[in-house]
Amino acid sequence: MSAPQATIEVGQNEELNSNTRPLRMILIGPPGVGKGTQASLLEQRLGAIPLSSGMIFRAEIEADTDLGHLAQSYIKRGELVPSGITIEMMRKRMSTDNVRKHGFILDGFPRNIRQAEALDEILVEMEIDLDFAVSLDVNDEIVVQRLSGRMGCTKCGEIYHSQTKPPKREGLCDKCNSPLMTRSDDHPDTIRERLRVFHEQTAPLCDYYEKKGLLKRVDGSKSPEEVYDQIVAGLDLDRS
Ligand code: AP5
Ligand code: MG
Repeated sequence: MSAPQATIEVGQNEELNSNTRPLRMILIGPPGVGKGTQASLLEQRLGAIPLSSGMIFRAEIEADTDLGHLAQSYIKRGELVPSGITIEMMRKRMSTDNVRKHGFILDGFPRNIRQAEALDEILVEMEIDLDFAVSLDVNDEIVVQRLSGRMGCTKCGEIYHSQTKPPKREGLCDKCNSPLMTRSDDHPDTIRERLRVFHEQTAPLCDYYEKKGLLKRVDGSKSPEEVYDQIVAGLDLDRS
């Protein structure tokens, strides 16, 4: 796949970043549980770089690249993009000085055991360790409610909800003033398929990280602030 790489604005919190030990974590959870919402809070407050495989695919689609065309055919059906392609894409995004220096919050990757094993190899190559993997636990009903009102910024990726987190100005991002959009895979049939794929392929990752002693379970049904507090509970926040 030789297409140029789409760009996403990440790692802008330079002041915080420069004073902290890099945080290296994974967010695991079903579609709509709030992985992107938490990744954004963790970036703003702890300075690690959020790397969302879904968001990278959407940027590739937007940029009309070969990878974007291929990814689109899977995403619109709610299926996983083939792991070989996904792993190479994430290896490139992770193997940067910026990620090494500031740490990362992986959102949506790994998504099956093959990807988890590949991530282990990437971390060995980078000579770094994972701090922990957070499982955001919630039932399917809540997920469907959350996805039905979601809107995202077309430029910076900030996430909103018509009821629980409306933007200050309708249809525009509070952070960068760009238009908000609903996602094409938030159609009810596609949501059902995404949930099925999650239970079949992604949920087993909890056992994988439990066995490594890295799993932290969090109640994802609470408010975003309460979920954030559970994620950082016990973390050594004085990371300088
Ligand atoms: P991806 O983009 O990763 O989507 P997803 O996993 O389905 O998760 P979402 O982004 O839909 O939800 P989220 O958990 O981030 O929730 P959010 O914070 O937005 O992947 C999309 C597709 O790309 C996949 O289906 C697949 O095809 C492909 N793909 C991606 N990664 C891949 C991989 N590794 N391998 C192969 N294929 C891959 O929150 C949702 C809403 O709820 C928002 O409106 C938000 O405001 C609200 N909200 C959030 N938290 C709370 C809360 N605590 N209380 C109330 N409301 C909340
Ligand atoms: Mg997301």
